[in-house]
Amino acid sequence: MPRRRTLFGQSVDRSIFVAYFLGGIVPLLGFALLADRVIPSLADRAEQWALGATIAGTGLLSLASFLALRHIVTSTLEKMDDDNHRLATLIGFARELSSAPHAHVVAESTAGWAIRVAHGEAAWLFVRHDLDKPFECWASRGDLAASWLEANGEEWLEYVDHAARDGEGLVVQASTDTDLSLVVAPLGGDALPEGALVVASRARPFRTSEIDALATLAGLGGVALANVESDDVQRNFYSHMTELVVAALDTHIQYRRGHASRVAETAHLVGRAMGLDERALHDLHFAALLHDVGMLRIPPEHQKDPKHFRKHTLVGHRMLSRIRAWEGAAPIVLQHHERIDGAGYPDGAVGDDICLGARILAVCDTWDAMRCDDWNRAALTPEAALAELEANAGTQFDPDVVRAFRGLVEQDEI
Ligand SMILES: [Fe+2]
Repeated sequence: MPRRRTLFGQSVDRSIFVAYFLGGIVPLLGFALLADRVIPSLADRAEQWALGATIAGTGLLSLASFLALRHIVTSTLEKMDDDNHRLATLIGFARELSSAPHAHVVAESTAGWAIRVAHGEAAWLFVRHDLDKPFECWASRGDLAASWLEANGEEWLEYVDHAARDGEGLVVQASTDTDLSLVVAPLGGDALPEGALVVASRARPFRTSEIDALATLAGLGGVALANVESDDVQRNFYSHMTELVVAALDTHIQYRRGHASRVAETAHLVGRAMGLDERALHDLHFAALLHDVGMLRIPPEHQKDPKHFRKHTLVGHRMLSRIRAWEGAAPIVLQHHERIDGAGYPDGAVGDDICLGARILAVCDTWDAMRCDDWNRAALTPEAALAELEANAGTQFDPDVVRAFRGLVEQDEI
């Protein structure tokens, strides 16, 4: 609720009072003092009354002007306060939308903020992806939202259809049988999904400023929905592309089927244990899945020849760095065969010059290789594989990564 303005609550009120005091009260007092001396000298009683009445009338008019001015100023301040509140709400809403991961989170957020911005009692978001299909209620907020929707849903869906089709909002001000005031605002954006935001309040007409704010909110919500859905489509595409490439790798390097998926799983656990943020975990995940993607360019007959297979880190880096969704994984792929003592390849990078993702991947990659039968030896037991990692901590592997890895093995996470 906006704060109630008081006369001295704002510096502008104080300024008005000072101005009134200097320009109204002080001259009036002077006038009254002067009249006090003049009135007794007037011989005619009627003239005395007339002068007195003039002074009193001027005083009353002055006071009335002051009160009117004060009312105008406080009303203006309240309106400004309301506008600021709505602007802050819309900014908060836009900020929340920017981090909303899914369309349903956007829908819930839009309905929730609609109640706040218009002081409504319930809000719903109706959406459809296909123009031939009916609208679905994606979000419903407010204690009475379910019962009001059940009682009025059919009628409101017609309003929603009308608003979404024409792109124009609809306002019903407490004139329906249920005594509900209703605002139906179409979602913004020209692309699908289309729909409308509906906000209701019992027997309280919505103000023009609230209706305007809801129109803006629905516009922002619609654009955010379209963006999130477009991101979803892209994520889905890259996820399936990755699966396809991993499947191709599994076929190409036959003696390690399922290796990339297992390495991605353990790398994620180690990365999380070592405090990597979501972005770094995302890059590590793709790097782990695609770390040997460069092998696709190494003919099968040369896969066991170091002169040839060592090129796979450079080739993989080149392949991934051209693709936006995978470019963060490229440096990890480039360095996943580096050793912290500098004896690795392709650059002989040392210690922290090797990125943490690559240091984690090196351990997880080697662990999985040791735990599987290879073309020239049988799989090692977990104890033997862990002993091998620890024996090479400080030379081949980062000791901190090996320590984190051991912790996860001891907790039965790996
Ligand atoms: Fe590799």
